[in-house]
Amino acid sequence: MFREIAVFTGNNHKGLAESICKHLEIPLGDVQVFQFSNEEIFVKYEENIRERDVYLVQPLVAPVNTRLMELLIMIDAAKRASAGRITAVVPYYAYGRSDKKDQPRVPVTARLVANFMEVAGADRVLSMDMHAGQIQGFFNIPLDELTAFPLIADYFASLNLHAPTVVAPDVGRAKLARDLAARIDADIAIVDKKRDGNKESAEAMTLIGEAKDRDCLILDDEILTGGTVASAVRLLRERGAASVRVACVHPVMAPKAFEVLDTPDLDEIVFTDSLPLVHGGFKTVPTTVLSVAPMIGDAIHRIHTGGSVGALFR
Ligand code: R5P
Repeated sequence: MFREIAVFTGNNHKGLAESICKHLEIPLGDVQVFQFSNEEIFVKYEENIRERDVYLVQPLVAPVNTRLMELLIMIDAAKRASAGRITAVVPYYAYGRSDKKDQPRVPVTARLVANFMEVAGADRVLSMDMHAGQIQGFFNIPLDELTAFPLIADYFASLNLHAPTVVAPDVGRAKLARDLAARIDADIAIVDKKRDGNKESAEAMTLIGEAKDRDCLILDDEILTGGTVASAVRLLRERGAASVRVACVHPVMAPKAFEVLDTPDLDEIVFTDSLPLVHGGFKTVPTTVLSVAPMIGDAIHRIHTGGSVGALFR
């Protein structure tokens, strides 16, 4: 067994790391992580971590490559400081969309990032709702993948909506929509989405299912430009939806997402604090933030004590 849990974080989401520590009833660990004027990153743990069970909390959001390097250097420093075990806690795993060679001469960057973490010295990874299931297999070390969708389902169930319909914004999310619909006793609908090559813009072509006079909930793993869900919102309004809400786990939110989604067509947007909103916030659309800190804290406790992480979701 390792000595006690130690949680540290880099420079992008101290609030989440603090909430996780609050849940675990331990102080956040003391570490310096900063850049020199030549942009090289320096890390120094300010406390003894020899033989401790170390958790490094770092969602990979903008500036993604800097945050990734921070994490890798934190892993390296922890290894050299003789940490007992190092777990990279990456609630949002960047480059998840580069998960297969689906065109000639392109990389599989999600795999490369996994290799980086292993080579740096990570013993385990704890992540959440990764973009594609196969990313788990890119690691040769244990990876626990949490899901925030039950949290989102419980929130929607508490709203007592009228004739709720869970909407998948593209065919890839149909199973997710079906699972959530079953949890809250709702119908489902699916948007047929078209994306042009490698362009970021997406277009909702048609709706499979009913929206008229229904309270619609669009569900996605992440929002980047907002294009996918914005076009689904428009389509549902055209089809006579009574209300339209959007929920996602990871609000990656490029600046233009706040423009396209701040619309009276949208009744509410729900997301988690798996990552920080680095490019601003919504001005008018009502937002609800569900915290994943207790879930991550529980998972850390279970990993430390050898408990089941899967049991969190039964
Ligand atoms: C696609 O497969 C994903 O589930 C999301 O729909 C997509 O990543 C969202 O991107 P954007 O907000 O740029 O349309």
